[in-house]
Amino acid sequence: MPRHFLDLDRFDENTLRQLLCLGEEFKKGNSHSQAPLSGKTLAMVFEQPSTRTRVSFEVGMRQLGGDVVLLSESESQLGRGETIADTARVLSRYVDGIMLRTKSSENLEELAQHSTVPVINGLTDLTHPCQILADIMTFEQHKGPITGRRVAWLGDGNNVAASWIQASVKLGFPLCLGCPQGFGPEATLIEWAISEGGDVLLTEDPEEAVRGVDCIVTDVWVSMGDRDPKRRHELLQPYQVNQRIMSLAKNSAIFMHCLPAHRGEEVTADVIDGPQSVVWDEAENRLHAQKGVLAWCMS
Ligand code: CP
Ligand code: NVA
Repeated sequence: MPRHFLDLDRFDENTLRQLLCLGEEFKKGNSHSQAPLSGKTLAMVFEQPSTRTRVSFEVGMRQLGGDVVLLSESESQLGRGETIADTARVLSRYVDGIMLRTKSSENLEELAQHSTVPVINGLTDLTHPCQILADIMTFEQHKGPITGRRVAWLGDGNNVAASWIQASVKLGFPLCLGCPQGFGPEATLIEWAISEGGDVLLTEDPEEAVRGVDCIVTDVWVSMGDRDPKRRHELLQPYQVNQRIMSLAKNSAIFMHCLPAHRGEEVTADVIDGPQSVVWDEAENRLHAQKGVLAWCMS
């Protein structure tokens, strides 16, 4: 069975810590071998647009001594109906790992099921684990160990929020999500978190969600593939992260956003461009954290 990196809930705390540690070592430049993936190739398959995931995986692979091949849905036979299963079987004969960004988590499952090389989740409609690994790394670089620290998610309970919930359970930190009715995370995910003993709370009150927290996280109101942007904007407006919302968190709280951001919508410019924002470190850490994932999966 290849070492896939599909979702955070499939790992135990020790393995997540091992991945983060590997990423840290690469960032510091003192890992045992700086080219552990020499001679290896990663296929990067994109069914959706990307800036950070695309560039950080490609640069990361090259820094680890490997190479990449890029496939988009429209420019490959995927766009003409070749199945994910057949694509997995074929790519497995050429490359040593596959990273997929997809509109449907079922495509990721199908790819992993039929691939004989490791598969990495580069975002689905349901989760974004590489992002949250980088986010945890960023939190800890600024504020120390995350275990027991309080994090608030404000806005749409989307794919990024789902991976935060999984991280909260696995790494043991309280997470409070402030989301409007109908835009919370899937009920089954909250039920899972509670059944695992996680400290995950869902509220419709944005102020309750952020009071006294160490970190406020948000994301776009309209994710790739979402419909009805007008309704989303109306309902999500009270969940905007602005100075008033930041002032309810700890004075030392940080602000995080996976990017791309829409200033004036989910976050005001004075917050994302202000002193509490760590969004550029977060973007940089995609590279380091994913080098940990690539080395763990493929070396
Ligand atoms: N945060 C993130 O995944 O960005 P991209 O969509 O640019 O890859
Ligand atoms: N929730 C966003 C994240 C983009 C990185 C989306 O899925 O579009």
